[in-house]
Amino acid sequence: TRDKMPPTPGDILVHAGGDKDGQPVQVADLSEKLVRAWPMGKDADGNPLIRKGDPNNVVAMYKFQAGQIGAPTNIPATIDGQIVVYSDICMHAGCSVSDDDQKAGQMKCPCHSGQYDPMHGAKVTGGPPPGPLPQLPVKMDGDKIVVSGFFLTPPYGFTESDWEARKK
Ligand code: FES
Repeated sequence: TRDKMPPTPGDILVHAGGDKDGQPVQVADLSEKLVRAWPMGKDADGNPLIRKGDPNNVVAMYKFQAGQIGAPTNIPATIDGQIVVYSDICMHAGCSVSDDDQKAGQMKCPCHSGQYDPMHGAKVTGGPPPGPLPQLPVKMDGDKIVVSGFFLTPPYGFTESDWEARKK
């Protein structure tokens, strides 16, 4: 069903929790601190539908300074090399990844202390995760941040072939 579909091109990213829960994420809301968001698509009647049916659809959004983002981030999939979005679901065992309170602009998983670097493709910088968090391509549409492609690599719980099937 549509509420379980993964983040899909054209979806608007909306706040997941906090004061602005359900509202579109604005550029001004973003910084080097993690903002969690849901993808919002449309139901069969064309009404807005937040894709909360799969908890693995939560994403982590950041805005860094120009020049801070580097390889292996896919730069064309960012907005101006500054706004970058990843799955928020840890590749180790599926926990929701948070800010690393010890290191600004870095991510840490509360479950087993997996660490990721969102300025560099969310590569693993510590702990047990087997690989980076998948990056989600985004672009601006007016003042909204929208999904412009599927996760570039399979998110937590998907093999390559499962993921190819899921995108259809
Ligand atoms: Fe994230 Fe284990 S679930 S480190």
